[in-house]
Amino acid sequence: MDFKDLRVNGQRLQGSLEEMAKIGGTPGGGVQRLTLTDEDKQARDLFVSWLKELNLEITVDEMGNIFGKRPGRNNDLAPVMSGSHIDSQPKGGRFDGILGVMGPLEVLRTLHENNVETERPMVIVDWTNEEGSRFAPAMVASGVWAGALERDWVYDRTDIGGKRFEDELIRIGYKGTAACKKWPVHCYYEYHIEQGPILEMEGKLIGAPKGILCLHWYDIYLAGEANQVGPTPMEGRHDALCAAAEMILKVNQLPGRMGGNMVATVGEIQNYPNSRNIIPDKVHFTVDIRSWDDEHAIKAWELVRKDFEDIAANRGCPIKIEETWRVEHSPFDEKRVQLVLDSADQLGYSSLHMVSGAGHDASYMNQVCPTAMIFVPSIGGRSHVEVENTRWEDCEAGANVLLHALLQSANEKL
Ligand code: GLV
Ligand code: MN
Ligand code: MN
Repeated sequence: MDFKDLRVNGQRLQGSLEEMAKIGGTPGGGVQRLTLTDEDKQARDLFVSWLKELNLEITVDEMGNIFGKRPGRNNDLAPVMSGSHIDSQPKGGRFDGILGVMGPLEVLRTLHENNVETERPMVIVDWTNEEGSRFAPAMVASGVWAGALERDWVYDRTDIGGKRFEDELIRIGYKGTAACKKWPVHCYYEYHIEQGPILEMEGKLIGAPKGILCLHWYDIYLAGEANQVGPTPMEGRHDALCAAAEMILKVNQLPGRMGGNMVATVGEIQNYPNSRNIIPDKVHFTVDIRSWDDEHAIKAWELVRKDFEDIAANRGCPIKIEETWRVEHSPFDEKRVQLVLDSADQLGYSSLHMVSGAGHDASYMNQVCPTAMIFVPSIGGRSHVEVENTRWEDCEAGANVLLHALLQSANEKL
């Protein structure tokens, strides 16, 4: 069969996504499958059972990354790879991450049932903890695999309840024995929903990002002085939550002050003791800064950091700042991005060259091998929410682009 005529089975892809959406399904129609929870384990088990049906060579490494390898005609050649993540945000959607795992699974099923051989081997991957919501930071397991993060530093990260990453990995039975260490990869494609409004606004079906913005994460800890709210005069208070409130607005105003080209967000906060009649004496909040221009993001941070220190001093609330994580902006391989655009074109799909504002394991993979991504539209531009949605026919179209990009790459002899 001429592989130009090959197409994935859209109904089967929909079925896999619907099966996965039952695991951690929320009443609001979303998914809550936080990394290294029982739901993550259940979804991993299902994924592994599907890999076994295809007789793939399955490896689980010491970060819990799951790889399934399909041999090629020449197994001395570096494989092509595709994957994403099974974990989700709290009250997240049914597509973020899992589409990029079920998509290549559908590609492999299509090759299997059509007895298609490729020159190079193909590898499908589920990366552990892409979201970084339960255990910060994000994309840690592709980061360790790429050599950008230290395994033991990640093992010691804790969730809000004090549970260690490594202990939870062991608890769900996914601390494998293989070293988490990069090997030669010919190229990597990650299939994902766009998570923004651009494709829909432009009326295009397939997005081919030229790269991913930088991501900088910070953790801020403030101390105050707790007291009874009634008898304590307003003057002389050391209210850690009020200090945080001023700081949060500074973060929100930062992109405007910097003249744009960036976004800045506080998404998480803990306030202690969190009682309506006690002045707060301990606050933790997070800062997320993203831009295509790393220097611009760092300058913005320096500006807001100075604001934080001034506010903390004015309110008499000692501040501790942790510069938790930085991943540089990732310009993808132009040849691979072009191959995605060409594959879309050959399949008769409209396409758009764009930028990814969301973080992806493709950022770290881009440090290892030529990398590109395939986006399909997010309805209403909504993501990381229960109403996150993408049309089934769009999921199928993106998987067809992935099929063709993978097939072409897997048949390259050089
Ligand atoms: C990953 O989901 C991100 O924060 O962009
Ligand atoms: Mn994702
Ligand atoms: Mn996400």
